[in-house]
Amino acid sequence: MQILYDAADALFESQNVSDDALLSVISSDDEKFREYLFEKARSRAVENFGNKIYTRGLIEFTNYCKNDCYYCGIRRSNKNALRYRLTKDEILECCAEGYELGFRTFVLQGGEDPFYTDELICEIVREIRSGFPDCAITLSIGEKPRESYAAYREAGADRYLLRHETINPKHYGRLHPPELSLENRVRCLRDLKDLGFQVGCGFMVGSPYQTLENIVEDLRFIKDFSPHMIGIGPFIPHTDTPFASERAGSLELTLVLIAVIRLMNPRALIPATTALGTINPRGRELGVLAGANVVMPNLSPVAVRKKYSLYDNKICTGEEAAECRGCLARRMESIGYELSVSRGDYPC
Ligand code: 5AD
Ligand code: FES
Repeated sequence: MQILYDAADALFESQNVSDDALLSVISSDDEKFREYLFEKARSRAVENFGNKIYTRGLIEFTNYCKNDCYYCGIRRSNKNALRYRLTKDEILECCAEGYELGFRTFVLQGGEDPFYTDELICEIVREIRSGFPDCAITLSIGEKPRESYAAYREAGADRYLLRHETINPKHYGRLHPPELSLENRVRCLRDLKDLGFQVGCGFMVGSPYQTLENIVEDLRFIKDFSPHMIGIGPFIPHTDTPFASERAGSLELTLVLIAVIRLMNPRALIPATTALGTINPRGRELGVLAGANVVMPNLSPVAVRKKYSLYDNKICTGEEAAECRGCLARRMESIGYELSVSRGDYPC
């Protein structure tokens, strides 16, 4: 038991421990120890960010996707998905509404949808950039050639989210069809960083076939890659996918991993994700109490929200943007935090 506490202390002091120690920490189901770990991670987050929680307005602008990832509800083979696309004007309206509500970062997320050519994406980015010059623009639209990323950057995009999903090639192959490769995913992440984006990677906790050893590999990769943002959330099965009858990831392990990731990457921007809020009604609050410092409420028009269904029972699909913002503000206040009206960049 002392080994665990020593590992937590070492993580706090030196942001690193051996793979064996990481494995012991993430294997522990001792509640007292977990509380100790969360307390350490939380104090590290407060040191860097105070009691402010950064917000990002998430605009899910298309659920068409040319990919067929086995875990994802908007995979191309899901014939039950009701597909939609937002127009440029609809996206700009979401931004305008978000701006009024205090959002200073917009995250444009979608499936890999060839309808949005690089030209169209750049046009959208340029218009957001000129209409909302004090806001950060984040893209989350998957794997692209380096030239496309360069064009998005040139157009004014600041950040890019692309979860690596798992750094183990075998595991990667069990989550994705053969035409997708871990190698290309990592190439994308490196290109993005090289082009000056603030970059986010991350993975699902409890995805099918994932082992604790795999997770240690992910923690090591993240530490080495040193991204600006790290998104993790529980895997949740979607009825219309090959993983429909797999088990969801656990709240406890997700929280432990948020804490470990905070301790290993003290200044990283770490969201308490919607998936975490979906598996537990207080998931996002618990995420913040374990070291997360970002929330990403939904700004998509209510009419399309249910359709952006990556997994079953996703929360916030019936609420207006203002309701979600208000709800999250209250939730954060209930645990002694407040939402920040700022871009919330990676601290220099
Ligand atoms: N459960 C939880 N997260 C999922 N994602 C995709 N499908 C699921 C699911 N079934 C995550 C992936 C992706 C991000 C946009 O959403 O990690 O990168
Ligand atoms: Fe959307 Fe609570 S955050 S309803």
